[in-house]
Amino acid sequence: MKSKSVNILGIETSCDETAAAVVTDGSIVKSSFVASQIKLHEKYGGVVPELASREHAEKIYPIIKEALEQAQITKDNLDAIAVANQPGLTMALVVGVTAAKTLSFAWQKPLIAINHLHAHLQSAMLSEQDIELPAVALVVSGGHTSLFDCQSPLELTLLGSTIDDAAGEAFDKVASILRLPYPGGPSIEKAGKNGNPKAINFPRTLIAPGSLDFSFSGLKTAVLYHCRGQDMKGENKSDSMSEQEIADIAASFQAAVVDVLVKKTKRAADRIGAKTVLLGGGVGANSALREALQQFCDSSKPPRKLLAAPKKYCTDNAVMVASLAYYKFKEGLFADLTLEPKAHG
Ligand code: KG4
Ligand code: ZN
Repeated sequence: MKSKSVNILGIETSCDETAAAVVTDGSIVKSSFVASQIKLHEKYGGVVPELASREHAEKIYPIIKEALEQAQITKDNLDAIAVANQPGLTMALVVGVTAAKTLSFAWQKPLIAINHLHAHLQSAMLSEQDIELPAVALVVSGGHTSLFDCQSPLELTLLGSTIDDAAGEAFDKVASILRLPYPGGPSIEKAGKNGNPKAINFPRTLIAPGSLDFSFSGLKTAVLYHCRGQDMKGENKSDSMSEQEIADIAASFQAAVVDVLVKKTKRAADRIGAKTVLLGGGVGANSALREALQQFCDSSKPPRKLLAAPKKYCTDNAVMVASLAYYKFKEGLFADLTLEPKAHG
């Protein structure tokens, strides 16, 4: 007999996207709504937590309502409510956590707590249930750059992470130096399309032989020096640079980030004997990174399989939250109403 399907409402408010989604049995996307706050934060060149929190509070219930309506799911055929409660901006997380706890209590549905980074990797596993293990997983987002040894959606062991800026943060900061619009990742990718990735040899920080940690602040500073002169006394020359010069800097910077990400992923994959490479997080939408990881996987002996999250599920969304929650649901791993947001996961 076919078992009853499991409908989970996912809620995501960890940074600057208010999102809700309904996913059935971990992979059938019934609805997905994402309200981006880019317009709100772009003039500050980054996310302002107080503004993010206020906007989440305004949007969260209408978005949940829309997600349920579009999925044609009522509270009666909903099996659980899942929320990303860590890591992220506490002021932002608290809105999603409060909404989830309120609905869980009012509707008497189990509550499931989800780690946002683990959920990013779940986006890479959405359409693939039989993953050849071991797998090495790279999460590259605005707040995190982490490598995991992945044994299953729920079993992830951290192998390395950034000791300073996250990859996405470096993209955002460099875009701001180059006067490119926020968020920086897509702007740099677009500007760099016409640039020469070998024009400037920006540093590739590998930290120490064998290290699986990342550091991107030196690279960001190198771009700043390049634009302001080595004594840092000059004006930011990017104001008067030609489109080609900006394109060359963008392409060269992107090439340096991609190089480091691929080298470290290779190091981790070799160390754990990975058969599969998983990619998730906002920077995972970058085509140069996807192509370089694909090349690395194809040229591995024996070849490795790359599972990259679909581009639309690389940046923050609630599908990844509801999808991962299915595995916790099956294991009976529920949270209670004392659930709190946690800034660090
Ligand atoms: O995963 P995400 O939506 O939020 C966090 O969890 O932080 O990632 C957002 C980050 C931003 O820093 C943004 O600039 C970067 O992902 N990003 C990209 C691209 N699209 C978004 N970076 C490089 N290339 C892209 N195409
Ligand atoms: Zn994220």
